[in-house]
Amino acid sequence: MISPKTYAKAARVAPKGFKTANDFFDHVFKDKEMIWMGQNTNHLHEDTEIMDAMISCVNSREYCKYPPPEGFPELKKLVLEDLGLGEKFEILITAGGTESLHLCINDVLEPQNNAITCDPGYLIIDNFASRFSHSVISVPIYNEECGYKLTPKLVREYMDENTKLISLIDPLNPLGSCYTKEEMEEFAKIATENDIYLLHDITYRDFARDHHLAANYAPEHTITIYSFSKIFGMAGLRIGATIGLPEIMKSVRSIVINDLGTNVLSQTGAIAALKSKDQWIDHICDTTRNNQKIIKDVVDKVEGAFIPVYPSDGNMLAIDLKDTGIDPQAMTDYLLENKVFIRQGSYTSKLFGDRYIRVSFSVPEEHVKIFAEKFLEAVDVLRPI
Ligand SMILES: Cc1ncc(COP(=O)(O)O)c(C=O)c1O
Repeated sequence: MISPKTYAKAARVAPKGFKTANDFFDHVFKDKEMIWMGQNTNHLHEDTEIMDAMISCVNSREYCKYPPPEGFPELKKLVLEDLGLGEKFEILITAGGTESLHLCINDVLEPQNNAITCDPGYLIIDNFASRFSHSVISVPIYNEECGYKLTPKLVREYMDENTKLISLIDPLNPLGSCYTKEEMEEFAKIATENDIYLLHDITYRDFARDHHLAANYAPEHTITIYSFSKIFGMAGLRIGATIGLPEIMKSVRSIVINDLGTNVLSQTGAIAALKSKDQWIDHICDTTRNNQKIIKDVVDKVEGAFIPVYPSDGNMLAIDLKDTGIDPQAMTDYLLENKVFIRQGSYTSKLFGDRYIRVSFSVPEEHVKIFAEKFLEAVDVLRPI
């Protein structure tokens, strides 16, 4: 008999009315009227060269062949150029940031180690880290004092001699906080002095007003996690990358799962996406910033509600509902019934999930306006008398 592993419990809980989380996903995915503000995905790309490149790949039937196992060299080069990282770095194309995270966490952590993460945060990282280490130190960061982010000061306070990995999600899902150059320099110092690793997850990097790569400050101690799911609008294509210096990447290669390479169609789309980035990025960033303002204006109308990090440097933000007396789960359910998909706080927090909802806004402006309208309506209905 095989028993379930004793890993940290996955964040997936079946929502009300659904047997499994998978059934729920299938339901929202298939509902063509559903407004998609629950997954930080990007719905703002128009019919562009990304689509054309993939259609032409399908027509050529090139997908019958396996791709080069570590990714097409053209794509690898384009990603490094996109980050401004020189040729001394190596890169592995993966089936998304998720695969990259798993590979790196598996590679770095030994059973006696611990990893530092933060709460709120991207709980899959905690889950993966708990599979390969002794423990996960999840630092509470939902407060103004630390700026709603894991600071170097907090890391120094919480780390111990067994700490091997510091997870920096930057900008942070779900709050949208982002690191300054000074903070990054300080993290680099901590990593170098203690010979430990920074897991720099830059999934939301391109939405940020200003961004600093840990790889530039502590190259020997940084693994960078790259995703095509957000700014590139390619979440369903499942493609991303892992980047590091040769010594790190040599080790990561030894535990690769996807030994026959990553989806040819996705790689073709990714190449076109990077080549055309200059043409669409301003439109996407301008629209998301404007959408964010619409959300801020509506939240300001609700007594007791506030946005902890505004402006957010991601394509999502949190709305704190604690002082309104409204349960984030009830708000999420209400909006879902009204065809607006958002996330309750417990999806990204074990400690503060009862305080906030997470809303992503890389969707058309009309959708954000519908959210705003339904949000106000929900406050009226759900606020305790
Ligand atoms: C911080 C963070 N890292 C990684 C991922 C997953 O990225 P991918 O779709 O490339 O697997 C997400 C997805 O929401 C995320 O929020």
